[in-house]
Amino acid sequence: MLDGKTIILGIESSCDDTSAAVLSDGWLLSNVMASQEVHRKYGGVIPELASRAHQQNILPVVSQAIDQAGITLDDVDAIAFTRGPGLLGSLLVGTSFAKGLSLSINKPLVEVNHLQGHILSHFIKVEGRDNRAPQFPFLALLVSGGHTQIVRVDDYLKFEILGSTIDDAVGEAFDKCAKMLDLGYPGGPVIDRLAKEGDSSRFRFAKPNIPGLDYSFSGIKTSLLYFLRDSLKEDPEFIEKNKADLCASFQKDLIDILMKKLVRATKETGIREIVAGGGVSANSGLRNAITAEGQKRGWQTYLPELRFTTDNAAMIAIVGWYKFQQGLTCPLDAAPISRAAEYTL
Ligand code: KG4
Ligand code: ZN
Repeated sequence: MLDGKTIILGIESSCDDTSAAVLSDGWLLSNVMASQEVHRKYGGVIPELASRAHQQNILPVVSQAIDQAGITLDDVDAIAFTRGPGLLGSLLVGTSFAKGLSLSINKPLVEVNHLQGHILSHFIKVEGRDNRAPQFPFLALLVSGGHTQIVRVDDYLKFEILGSTIDDAVGEAFDKCAKMLDLGYPGGPVIDRLAKEGDSSRFRFAKPNIPGLDYSFSGIKTSLLYFLRDSLKEDPEFIEKNKADLCASFQKDLIDILMKKLVRATKETGIREIVAGGGVSANSGLRNAITAEGQKRGWQTYLPELRFTTDNAAMIAIVGWYKFQQGLTCPLDAAPISRAAEYTL
């Protein structure tokens, strides 16, 4: 407790970013992140290397978050940590660290579902910003490297998944496309940048035909693969010559797929408060599409600040704050839950 305010320390280590953040009654005091460059040369996250890097980063990252917040460990009221979903070895580092700290400073632990973090990142309050937050109920388009979902949110801790991908996540589709075009990892940001210089109407790829509000992204990925294979037979420099148009066209198709089901969800539920979250919500094409569709259809739309789109501990701390206010602390034997299907929202 500091000046009568509740202080939450958040810890995030579910994939390849180590992060710690401090919130005071929901206001951001610090949010420190260490990204892991080591995976870049392998073209994807290597779980063993990720957990080793988390071990190296976690202590300095937490210390910096405490220092930058201008507090001491004594001021912390609760420690919120990502329990899952994510890579088991990565989750273990953050979970074990949070437990050790909880024991040593004698403060309670709050377990947090990473996906709730992406959704509630809209409630983090930042000094000097308008801090406009969505009203309940709202629909969240959750788009990341591991997940693609439409979630109905009725209260801070009341979630219902209306639709999910049945195969790949949209972030994976971005990353795999980037790999085929030899653009490096993670590919999403590179495709986003190149797409701005390209013609998005040049090429079309196979769209999924999935019932309800579910998504599928494996077909469009295969469609791109075959298209590139055939085109390269005719012209070995096809990719080089058409890179920007390929990125713009593929990105447009992914956005169209995402938006079609989102529009459908708003019609089925009658909800017009729309938020986006997760790494792919940094995509400028998707952000423009949500804003434009919102203006056309009378939605209130909320896009996260870019630093809150990718994995960060501030979003873990905000969920921690809402849970802590309701007395939802957890025991020291809470083990990581790697699979999303086993960790209900
Ligand atoms: O939420 P996140 O940091 O990690 C997971 O929980 O998965 O999301 C990472 C994903 C990666 O697939 C990355 O390529 C994608 O987000 N991403 C983007 C952009 N920035 C990150 N995809 C498209 N456009 C971007 N600007
Ligand atoms: Zn994430």
